Amino acid sequence: MIANESSIADVNPVPLTSLDEWEEDVIKRYPDPAQINKDKSEEEFRNYEEPARDGVKEFYRLNHTYQSYDFVMEKRADYLKFDKREMPIWSAFDFLNQLVDDSDPDTDLDQMQHLLQTSEAIRNDGHPDWMVLVGLIHDMGKVLCLFGEPQWAVVGDTFPVGCAYSDKIVYPEFFVNNPDFANEKYNTKLGVYTQNCGLDNVHMSWGHDEYVYHMMKDYIPEPGLYMLRYHSFYSQHRENAYDHLMSPHDHEMFKWVALFNPYDLYSKNPNQKTWAELKPYYQDLVAKYLPANLKF
Ligand SMILES: [Fe+2]
Ligand SMILES: [Fe+2]
Repeated sequence: MIANESSIADVNPVPLTSLDEWEEDVIKRYPDPAQINKDKSEEEFRNYEEPARDGVKEFYRLNHTYQSYDFVMEKRADYLKFDKREMPIWSAFDFLNQLVDDSDPDTDLDQMQHLLQTSEAIRNDGHPDWMVLVGLIHDMGKVLCLFGEPQWAVVGDTFPVGCAYSDKIVYPEFFVNNPDFANEKYNTKLGVYTQNCGLDNVHMSWGHDEYVYHMMKDYIPEPGLYMLRYHSFYSQHRENAYDHLMSPHDHEMFKWVALFNPYDLYSKNPNQKTWAELKPYYQDLVAKYLPANLKF
């Protein structure tokens, strides 16, 4: 596995055995409602109650400790220049697939398969083709890992920085270690923002969502951009913890984020068609919306 932890964290073991472990933990927090009363033994239900593996907890400790306002600004200044490399989306998927971890017995899907499971489930339900494309590319920002970013700056629930951290965010107790926790510029309910200022004026913790949003913002319709940008913002799209920052337009657009979320979490189809079968459709779809080369 490629998991480059920065020097501030190198006294600890790698928190997640693979990037997928974070998403598996999200599913434990938000089990598929369609499966809750079906095919689940009591024992499986009990598994949802089990405390997260220590690695997941350690992952959130690092994430909540280091995702401060200044950290986010630094990452934005670096990555939003998009001067790292230029490549066709297909090379980016190959690049992403280097994240496959064969030491993790629970992870039998590579990143590309998760993307195809998501996009195919969206396509099968008859949604617009740009939403199918969103399914295909929504986790492409995980290439950040391959640029040397630690796991806690690539995946995990996202949340606003520059204002008080909500206790609806998973493991809120770890925010006491964040330098912004005691900074009165940032630790009030609104912090540096104004009431209902709209999320476009709010800085989110740094990760694959914000990165892919900026990469795609000139190419995809607005509801799709909301799906990309806020798909890991569980404390809002599942818990409504940041209504005070949301504009009426954000609320309208979050209906699309809510529509997308189950496809990301629960679309596991054992009879998935092969990439060879699906390729012609996706080549046409990508060519319809995206340029031949993307900047990273
Ligand atoms: Fe994601
Ligand atoms: Fe995903």
